[in-house]
Amino acid sequence: MEEPIYLDHNATTPVADEVWRQMLPYFGAGMSGGAAGGRSRQYGNPSSRHGFGRAARQAVEEAREKVAAAVGAHPSQVVFTSGGTEANNLALKGAAAWLKPGTLAVSRIEHPCVTRPAKDLRRQGWKLREIAVDAECRLDLDDLERTLAESPALVSVMLANNETGALQDVAAVADKARRAGALAHTDAVQALGKMAVDFRALGVDMMTLSAHKIYGPKGAGALIVDKRVELAPLLSGGGQEWGIRSGTENVPAIVGFGAACELLPGRLARVLQEGTGLRDRLEAGLKKMGAAIFAAGAERLPNTSFFALPSVEGETLVMALDRAGFAVASGAACSSASSEISPVLAAMGVEPSLAKGAVRVSLGQENTAAQVDAFLAALGGELSRLRSMAAVMAV
Ligand SMILES: Cc1ncc(COP(=O)(O)O)c(C=O)c1O
Repeated sequence: MEEPIYLDHNATTPVADEVWRQMLPYFGAGMSGGAAGGRSRQYGNPSSRHGFGRAARQAVEEAREKVAAAVGAHPSQVVFTSGGTEANNLALKGAAAWLKPGTLAVSRIEHPCVTRPAKDLRRQGWKLREIAVDAECRLDLDDLERTLAESPALVSVMLANNETGALQDVAAVADKARRAGALAHTDAVQALGKMAVDFRALGVDMMTLSAHKIYGPKGAGALIVDKRVELAPLLSGGGQEWGIRSGTENVPAIVGFGAACELLPGRLARVLQEGTGLRDRLEAGLKKMGAAIFAAGAERLPNTSFFALPSVEGETLVMALDRAGFAVASGAACSSASSEISPVLAAMGVEPSLAKGAVRVSLGQENTAAQVDAFLAALGGELSRLRSMAAVMAV
C-alpha cells in the first residue's frame, strides 16, 4: 500500500531530521553511544551545578536565544512551557492574577485554550467580552474599541486562525489596547513559520508559540513576555524560568524547539517565494467541484484551505479520504460523537448546513503539486461515491 499523504500541518508537523539530530543527545539514551555517538549522554538537569547540569543549562539557554531571534524578542523574554496550551493559559490566568478584575476581551475565533481559561476567569470577577468577526473571519475592530471603552484590562486576539488561516491586524489590536490601558496578548502558534512574526513590531505584551507546528517536537512552547508584565505562575515549585514556570525543563524538546526556530528563516524564504501557489492550485480544483472556500476574502496563511462541499458531511468525507490515503481535518468538534459545527464558522455566520461540510487542508513543506492533484482526484471520486450512495438511500 502506498504511503498516506499528510495534509494536516495545522494540527501538527513531522519533526525535521535536523531538529531530531540536535535533540538526540539530550535524551541521554544509548548507553553504548547509540545513534548520536559520543555526545549521546547529555541528560543532566539544567539546575544541577556539575558538568552534566551545566551542559543541559547551556543547551536550554542556546535554545532560548534561537527562539527569541526567530520572533525579534530578547532571550530574557522567553518563558518555556509545555506548549501553546500552557502558554495561553499562563498569559491569561497569570496576567489576570496581578490585575484588578476588569474586562477581558477575546475574539470569537480563539482556540479553546484561550476561550476556556477566559471563561474560567469569570469566576474571579472578570467580565468576558467576545469580539465579533465578519463573514470573512476578520476581527471587528470597532467592536473591540467599544469593548475597550468599558473597563479594559486584558485583550487576547490570535495572529492566524487555525481553521480558516485568516490573519488579524494584531498590531492595531495592541495599539488600541495600549491606548485604553489594557495588556495585549496574541496566540501566534499558527502564524510562526508561515509568515514573518515580530514580537516588537506587533507591539503586544505577550505572545504564544508552539514547537510542534514548526517541525519541532510536541511538548514544548513558549510565552514571550514583555518584562513589564507581572505574571503569577500556574505551576509553583523549584523556581525554574524565573519562578514563572516551575518544573524541570524538558531539555530535549526545548533543544528541538530552538533547532526548529533556527531552521525557520530558510523555510520562510521558501514559503514567501512559493507563496500560495499550491493552495491556489488546490482551491481552483475545489471550486470546480462547487466548494465554498471559507475566509477566501481575508488575508490568509499561505498553506490553509478550509472549505465545504454542499450536502456532504465533512466528517464523512474526512473518513473516506483517510481510507483513500489522505490525512485532512474536518471542521467539526471531534470531542463528542455528535459532530457540532465549528465555533469559528458559527462566529462567521456560516449556515449550519454548510458548516457541517467543513474540511480543512493544511499544506506543509513536503507537499507537492502531484500530491495536490492526487488529492483532488480522490476527493472527486469520493464525492461521486457518497452522492450516489445518498441518491440510492433517498430512493
Ligand atoms: C491557534 C492555536 N493555539 C494553541 C494551540 C495549542 O498548542 P499546543 O498543541 O502546543 O498546546 C493550537 C494547537 O492546535 C492552535 O492551533
